[in-house]
Amino acid sequence: MGNDVHEKWIQWNREYGQIFQTVSAGPVIHLISHINFTKWNGLFSRVIYIGDPRLVAEIATSNWPKSAAQYDGFKPLDGDALFVQTNQERWKMQSKRLAPAFQPNVIQSQYPCLASHIGNYVRQLDRAAETNSVIDLSSLNILLSLDFIGDIAFGTSFNAINQGPNCRIAQLLEMILPELMKCGLFPLRGKIPIFQSTRIMNRAITELRDMAKEAVKDARKNESAEDGNSKIKPSKKIFEILALQREADGNYTFNAQELLAFLVAGGDPTAHTMSFLVWQVLKNPTIFAQLRAEIDASIPYGAEVATLEHVKLPYLNMVLKETLRFSSPGFGTFRTCSKDTAVAGVTLPANTTLALWNPQVHRDPRLWEDPDKFDPERWRSGQPKLRGSYFPFSYGPRSCTGQGLAMLEMTLTLATLLRRYDITPEPGFELEYLPSFTLKPKNGFPIRVTRRKC
Ligand code: HEM
Repeated sequence: MGNDVHEKWIQWNREYGQIFQTVSAGPVIHLISHINFTKWNGLFSRVIYIGDPRLVAEIATSNWPKSAAQYDGFKPLDGDALFVQTNQERWKMQSKRLAPAFQPNVIQSQYPCLASHIGNYVRQLDRAAETNSVIDLSSLNILLSLDFIGDIAFGTSFNAINQGPNCRIAQLLEMILPELMKCGLFPLRGKIPIFQSTRIMNRAITELRDMAKEAVKDARKNESAEDGNSKIKPSKKIFEILALQREADGNYTFNAQELLAFLVAGGDPTAHTMSFLVWQVLKNPTIFAQLRAEIDASIPYGAEVATLEHVKLPYLNMVLKETLRFSSPGFGTFRTCSKDTAVAGVTLPANTTLALWNPQVHRDPRLWEDPDKFDPERWRSGQPKLRGSYFPFSYGPRSCTGQGLAMLEMTLTLATLLRRYDITPEPGFELEYLPSFTLKPKNGFPIRVTRRKC
């Protein structure tokens, strides 16, 4: 994807209206407003971007199926996992079986695991403070998210923070994710791997799959009779709950590849949201002062890692919501309609990929006052927003399974970080946004930190 495609999505929505079709003719993309959809499918498949909140809400809540044209491109990695599932019946079954592992009490019980990884994160930052060295916050956030998601949802200790940005898991994901997104957008690329980057991705996927198989094998080797039969104990890690789950016939419910999807879905967007938030609050001193005041009033000086009790922080929640509006790392979802279908006065043609895409909806001047301003105050009233106008975690029954987990990780980490350190970006640094598998910082986020005195 081009660096500026994120801005283009926002601009196209303003220019061509809330619903437009992209038609690829070789390297050129033509845009067509919804009045004149063309019947031509382009070289790959017809894609219509849906930015009208009424259609977003209707399509997502009635759970139109995910589009095979796009999600098949992700299958080399995720196999038959929930994330890429285009068979509605199979998705229902998988989603039902996953639900108990993502209940609020189970999520909260992941705290000790999360706190121990945040402890490692703090030690890296303490060291950078003591030596007055530059540290890349974006990279550190990625390593933290990998350690956490690896531990609770992949059954593997990556030890990424301690090994640093060149650790194997970070290298593997770097080889996989940007290429995987390209295969999602251009499915032929994955099917006929003529590019070297596609072949490198395929080799990295094989290595990751082998790791997943080992983790599942280990969990099952250690399974006790009690594990197999008992009800879920909330103290268990999510991975153990899922790896040991069995069907009535005694077979395990999930295979290793299905569990691998969490690593991909859960690591990056959480890390990047945290980096985006820190960048925005550093740029906006009034917002930062208000956020600091709330955090300082709740977390005592010297606490190494915030506790669950410390993080009942409504203003931080508003700032997080605004970060997820302003620069949502996950762009949305691809759905499909098999026959011509009229929704809210618009007829969507058959066999079309529908991109319910939040970058343009979240910045649409028809829906948001001053949409390009980072302003957490828009969340103060607590009033629900117009249906379909805000969907950083997607929308409807197929929205993000890991939303609660991501919010917990982000809240605890950010509260800890902002309580303990003063942060200064390197002189002249400006965070740039790069649309890749997710929206991410283009050139990292180099900072220096100092320990606060009170
Ligand atoms: C800030 C962090 C996160 C954001 C912004 C985010 C966003 C999203 C979005 C936009 C989707 C829809 C994708 C699509 O339809 O193509 C999604 C789906 C999903 N997410 Fe997340 N996600 C986050 C964190 C997580 C975490 C931590 C996990 C797991 C532990 C997770 C697991 C999933 C799964 C399994 C799905 C597929 C749901 C389905 O198809 O039924 N996500 N997420």
